[in-house]
Amino acid sequence: MTILIKNIKELLQTRTTNVTVLNGEEMKELPSIKNAYLLIEHDTIVEFGKMDDFEDMDADEVIDASGKMVLPTWCDSHTHIVYAGNREQEFVDRINGLSYEEIANRGGGILNSAEKLQNTSENDLYDQSAQRLTEVMKMGTGAIEIKSGYGLTLDAELKMLRVIKRLKHDFPVKVISTFLGAHAIPKEFKDNPDGYVNVIIEEMIPQIAKEQLSQYIDVFCEKGYFSLEQTEHILQAGASYGLTPKIHVNQFNTFGGIALGVKYDALSVDHLEELSEEDIAVLKDSNTMPVALPSCSYFLSIPYTPARKLLDAGIPIALASDYNPGSTPSGNMNFVVSTACIKMKMTPEEAINAATINGAYAMGISNMYGSICRGKKANIMITKEIPSYHYLPYAFGDNHIEAVYINGVKI
Ligand code: NIG
Ligand code: FE
Repeated sequence: MTILIKNIKELLQTRTTNVTVLNGEEMKELPSIKNAYLLIEHDTIVEFGKMDDFEDMDADEVIDASGKMVLPTWCDSHTHIVYAGNREQEFVDRINGLSYEEIANRGGGILNSAEKLQNTSENDLYDQSAQRLTEVMKMGTGAIEIKSGYGLTLDAELKMLRVIKRLKHDFPVKVISTFLGAHAIPKEFKDNPDGYVNVIIEEMIPQIAKEQLSQYIDVFCEKGYFSLEQTEHILQAGASYGLTPKIHVNQFNTFGGIALGVKYDALSVDHLEELSEEDIAVLKDSNTMPVALPSCSYFLSIPYTPARKLLDAGIPIALASDYNPGSTPSGNMNFVVSTACIKMKMTPEEAINAATINGAYAMGISNMYGSICRGKKANIMITKEIPSYHYLPYAFGDNHIEAVYINGVKI
């Protein structure tokens, strides 16, 4: 099956060499070709260039993209889309004055989602999650990381991870699985948090490794959740089974989580709404990708990750949705990109780079995803007719995506 897209008003994120990450300085530029064509064979991008250089060729399907932009699909490197039910009551409680922290301290928050998930069958959990995955694919997500972490018992964590595995198998979107057993201390371990850390280390990690359910390990390293010391033990145990860290840090407090992540070669450190000068210095000398989650800041009314500080120091950034029932009940990457421009003062070029190639890097898949490059997966989207790509983040809240192709197949 070959698909030829012709007369593209502007083809974005075109790379002639397979760039796999962009630092802060490089993110300023978004290479593109105006009046372009793109050729897809099966699931692969095989050719692209200027219409002026186009030599007529046969294709099974020819698409005329006059007036439209074509770009790689979004690479959402941080989500929790496998969950049961919702938490709209907590949303109303927050409107009425309770804080996210107060709700968690009352046994709400993550523990509320864990209880719901423990009482939901694997098939029901699959159906609820599959619906969300379908929705985000339609909005342009072509690669997605999904975390466990609403199970908090061995059985329930395995249930989540098996659902992720089934989604990976059943859907064309690229799915990356991360084990987040250390998301919250379960009620039963309220007075013995280290006891739960032991369960993670001695029971969960070995079983997950045995069943090959995850490649990455996450910890919510935060006051009231997992301390630096506990995080370090969990990362060490994960490393001994080949699990690479991608961790939640600096959402509410900065106390050394970033340095710890970098010490253990974390692929990414995510949230970073709070950031110290030391954190920035540590990131500058590392291969760890900082991941900002602006929809979470928006929903919780907490600070936005200080993107300009990172970018102006030459440090890369990736953008992700954090789709989850508590802090970000949305997986719309178009909104993420807009919000990064509007609230974090990222330019459209920086934001699109952060949500494509750098997002792919934060999942360890940027050699095959995140740019228009010969040999890469044909994960692309076609916009409606729009005046320029600046219009994507500018006209926020509207859907500008007309068609999404994942592995060369229309969604
Ligand atoms: O990334 N911060 C930790 N975990 C999620 C939220 C979890 C929840 O409230 O259910 C996050 O924001
Ligand atoms: Fe998260």
